[in-house]
Amino acid sequence: MYKVGNFMNRFIVAIDGPAGSGKSSISKLVAQKRKFIHLDTGAMYRAVTLEALNRKIDLADEKCYDFLNDISIIYKDSKTYLNGVDVSKEIRSELVTANVSTVAKLKVVRDKMVFFQRESAKTGKVIVDGRDIGTVVLPNADLKIFLTASAEERAKRRFLENKEMGIDIDYETILKEIKERDYKDSNREIAPLKKASDAIELDTTKMTIAEVCNFIIKLIDERLNSMESFEMKELNMPKRLKVGDIVEGEVVSVQDKTIYLDIHNFTEGTMHLDHYTKDKSVESFKNIVKIGDKIKCEVAKVNEDNIYLSRLNLISEENFKLVVEQKELGNDIEVKVISEIKDKGYIVLYKDNQLFLPKSQSTKEVEINKNIVVRILEVDEKHKRAVVSRRVIEQEIYQENKAKEMDSINVGDVLKGKVAKVEKYGAIIRFNYNQGLLKANQVAHTFVDVAQVLHVGDEIEVKVVKKENNKLELSRKALLETPFELYVKNHKVSDKVVGKVSNKLPFGLLLELCPNVKGLLHSKEYSHNPNDNFASCVKIGDEVEVAIIAIDKENEKISLSRKALMDNPWTRVNASVGDLVDIKITNVLENGLEVEALGVDGFVPASEALLESKNDNLAQYYASGDTTKAYITDINPKEWKLRLSIKKYLMEEERKSYEKYMSDTQEAKVSLGDMLKKVLK
Ligand code: CDP
Ligand code: CDP
Repeated sequence: MYKVGNFMNRFIVAIDGPAGSGKSSISKLVAQKRKFIHLDTGAMYRAVTLEALNRKIDLADEKCYDFLNDISIIYKDSKTYLNGVDVSKEIRSELVTANVSTVAKLKVVRDKMVFFQRESAKTGKVIVDGRDIGTVVLPNADLKIFLTASAEERAKRRFLENKEMGIDIDYETILKEIKERDYKDSNREIAPLKKASDAIELDTTKMTIAEVCNFIIKLIDERLNSMESFEMKELNMPKRLKVGDIVEGEVVSVQDKTIYLDIHNFTEGTMHLDHYTKDKSVESFKNIVKIGDKIKCEVAKVNEDNIYLSRLNLISEENFKLVVEQKELGNDIEVKVISEIKDKGYIVLYKDNQLFLPKSQSTKEVEINKNIVVRILEVDEKHKRAVVSRRVIEQEIYQENKAKEMDSINVGDVLKGKVAKVEKYGAIIRFNYNQGLLKANQVAHTFVDVAQVLHVGDEIEVKVVKKENNKLELSRKALLETPFELYVKNHKVSDKVVGKVSNKLPFGLLLELCPNVKGLLHSKEYSHNPNDNFASCVKIGDEVEVAIIAIDKENEKISLSRKALMDNPWTRVNASVGDLVDIKITNVLENGLEVEALGVDGFVPASEALLESKNDNLAQYYASGDTTKAYITDINPKEWKLRLSIKKYLMEEERKSYEKYMSDTQEAKVSLGDMLKKVLK
């Protein structure tokens, strides 16, 4: 609870009066009894006088008092210290007493002393005695006393005092000195000795020190008591509240839009919702405030019947500290976007603080009534303003996502992206956060004009073929079927196709089956006829009809055969040396006859064409188309080789007719045919 003693910790008693009126001795006693600090200002003027005398200056010359800045005068526990030395006795000397009024009337001295005295009386309970305390030094003193006594009485007191201290000055001298000093002190220009209008005058001529002391103590106590009870009364009365006062109220009633608070006054305080929070989305006090809650608020308006309260200024005071705190901690804050300032930005709310989000710092994510996380860019504590940014956060998030996406992409990945740019050299393909380069030669398997194939905005699939320093190189063609793949998809082994001779190799021919697809026609596959010389039969560019005989998808090889499409007459030949067969002459040459026998080609050397070797031209005996018979003398189906002898057939025929002729001759045991067969084998 409130304590009077604590409160009444300042009280000033000013005691003024002429020399010997009892100021010092009474002040000292009162101070002891009521635990006041006593300040004897006369002693201070005396100390200055002592110093001036010591310095032997012209006491009346103001210019000689520069030393005032260099000396220290302290009055403590009834003792006077000059520059740290106790001079309590010296300052009471006759010389000092005789000169003190001359020194004390100087402005330079008084200004300095008054400054000291005011400083000393600034705190605590003090009793200050002098000549001008109640009038000049401390005109606001709580109690002012003006002590007087007749000059004779005062001279008598001083005489007795001196005597006790062993100072021998006669009464008349003292009286004269006192009167002179009275005159000087009362008539000087600055701060003369004078009773303050609100001082209590006390003639002590006939009073003892104790009587005076008790009288003053009584006055002090009365004054203190009346001040305390005044303060108490003030406290017990409901204070008259004024706009701006801060009160703590206890919630006694909660309505949707209004609460009532007990603020210990003539009426309850009323607070409307819009004075509780700046958040317009809060629609009711219910759920946010309950009876018994204590709320610190500010008096917003007072009239005869009502006291209206508001929390807005206070929360902004307190809550703004939260903004400052978050900024210092480097934390991002979640705010609610509450309004837009056209072309300038948005107002966002954080713990009831309205913060500014400039347009330049906002993003698409910023929408009225939406909660967003922002970074505090600037705080102006004085005006309670802060600027926040959404953009920096989104940029950070974007960079993070970009790095994450890049980390997740590896060479070989197949990604979907959008064509962002099309140039001659290729296209830029954008993924969510990163982009990559699709060079023109990676667009398709064949040479294409990039702009013909790709258009900005197209969504395409690409394969990552290179990743270096976070740069991606892509390929579209890697995902497309190669001409080979496409070809083999549409063709199978045994298909009959036409190829164009593109290369002649020692072991065969390369045939182009369609652009960028070639197949090999191995020399072995050219013809059944081993005597066919493929190299001389075809030239580059010739079209050859072939059959697909093998597809090696892995190595992208197609094997072709020409002979597979052809009939092999030799497969039907089943004959051996010595067999007699029908022949048809197809060509008559110098060295022999080309013939057809058993469905294949054969040859009858000139030496085997006639019964007897003649040097004549064979054409004299044979013509194309002639038919006859001949004995097989050599047969090799692998080499399509068939050699025949008409001569042997003719010899056989001759022997037959001879045998017929000799048919009656039974002795013949071995036929000529048998003999020939033996020789030929
Ligand atoms: O010796 P006594 O008690 O009579 O006088 P004091 O209080 O020691 O003051 C000595 C002198 O200082 C006075 O005569 C005044 O001239 C001067 N004085 C002053 O001018 N103003 C004051 N507040 C106190 C003292
Ligand atoms: O300070 P001021 O010059 O006003 O007087 P003081 O030095 O306090 O008193 C001068 C002398 O008078 C001291 O010896 C006091 O004891 C004495 N005195 C007295 O006998 N009766 C009084 N009512 C007041 C002071």
